[in-house]
Amino acid sequence: MCWNSRHADQAANGGGTKECSMTISPTTDTTRRLRVALIGAGLMAKSHTLAYGALPTLFPALGAAPELSVLADVDDARAESGARQLGFSRWTSDWREAVNDPEVDVVDIVTPNWLHYEVAMEAIAAGKHVYCEKPLAITAKEARAMWEAAREAGVSTVVGFSYLGNPGVQLIKRLIDDGTLGDVWSIKGHFVVDANADPSLPRTWHYERSKAGLGALGDIGSHVISLVQALGGPITRVFGDLATVVPQRPEASGALSYGSKAAADAPLLPVENDDVATVLGRLANGASVVIEASRVGNGHPFDLGVEVFGSKGSVRFSQQDSYKVELFLRGEEPAVFPGTTTVTLGPGHGDYAAFWPFPGVTLGLHELKAIEIRNLFQAILDGTQAYPSFEDGWRVTEVLEAAERSSRAGAWENVSH
Ligand SMILES: NC(=O)c1ccc[n+]([C@@H]2O[C@H](COP(=O)([O-])OP(=O)(O)OC[C@H]3O[C@@H](n4cnc5c(N)ncnc54)[C@H](O)[C@@H]3O)[C@@H](O)[C@H]2O)c1
Repeated sequence: MCWNSRHADQAANGGGTKECSMTISPTTDTTRRLRVALIGAGLMAKSHTLAYGALPTLFPALGAAPELSVLADVDDARAESGARQLGFSRWTSDWREAVNDPEVDVVDIVTPNWLHYEVAMEAIAAGKHVYCEKPLAITAKEARAMWEAAREAGVSTVVGFSYLGNPGVQLIKRLIDDGTLGDVWSIKGHFVVDANADPSLPRTWHYERSKAGLGALGDIGSHVISLVQALGGPITRVFGDLATVVPQRPEASGALSYGSKAAADAPLLPVENDDVATVLGRLANGASVVIEASRVGNGHPFDLGVEVFGSKGSVRFSQQDSYKVELFLRGEEPAVFPGTTTVTLGPGHGDYAAFWPFPGVTLGLHELKAIEIRNLFQAILDGTQAYPSFEDGWRVTEVLEAAERSSRAGAWENVSH
């Protein structure tokens, strides 16, 4: 916008430039400004803010645009530098101040997991719309209360499951819903990373049961559960096997971020949640589910995939190769080269056209976050819930809890929904 107006001015005035406003995007008089309070200034604060910045450019007809109002972080220095770097007008080290600020419409929660419940409940009580990262809460009871409070207050909510908006996932959903794949017989999904494979990495909040909830299963497995339930419906029974393979890690100290190291002489503290999780499950329609989550999967820096097997064919999607899905349809194999077909994703698939006018470009996490925020803003304009809502977030936490119960008991467990 700035670039365009500067050049338009140059053309009109025969050279020279004029100041353009701080507007980050094209807006019109009818565009509704939604003022955002971001709670937390860590890794995901950056991703969300990049997406807010891109939103009006990607979705110019949306009718709503973000205003980065206030950033809150418990750490003064992080709050101040975060606000400056990310472009927020104000900062505070008291999240309650930000949440109850009358100049705020949307509360965006990117804190460690244990704070999601408290911040979201206060935001809902203050009548704010809420964007909350996953997993929605530490317990299913809290997550359900969050969903019920939001529904009763009539505020819009969205949970940061990120990948549900990928055009490849949207295509798979369409192939299931329109019957192309036939009856869904089984779904398998995995999210394996090696970000935590180094045992010398410090014991941050991610390894504490009370602060993170589950480990690999809650952190990244929750994405797979959200995908499975979005595609196949509710998971009703599970058999979980949760394992901690690095039982102790050195105490963390100082400011922490991904890749930071603990002091060489730091005392070792227990890891309180799972590094590797395998979950077998059943969907309401009887279909079989396999979910794998690992945060110590050496050699797999970022490996998220889902595969659906139906009575008429199968389809496979990998976030690493998110420009395509692999599709097999029984009876439609080409005679000469039978097997799967690569469907290259393009402007005809889901929200792809917002990003590129030609097919084959991989969409990454920051871009998917823009789709998520678009969903929230559209829901706010329409007075509805966004997708995926706090209800979807709560239903994932029920699966997490059932898997943990099952792992402890060594037996199948029903999932409450
Ligand atoms: N959707 C995704 O793909 C994705 C990816 C990574 C993380 N996440 C989720 O995002 C959330 C944040 O993760 P992160 O990696 O950004 O964490 P992080 O540890 O990098 O950042 C958390 C921030 O919260 C701040 N904080 C802690 N206590 C606070 C308080 N009382 N008030 C205000 N701020 C406080 C910390 O100082 C820190 O700056 C988590 O729920 C995580 O599960 C989602």
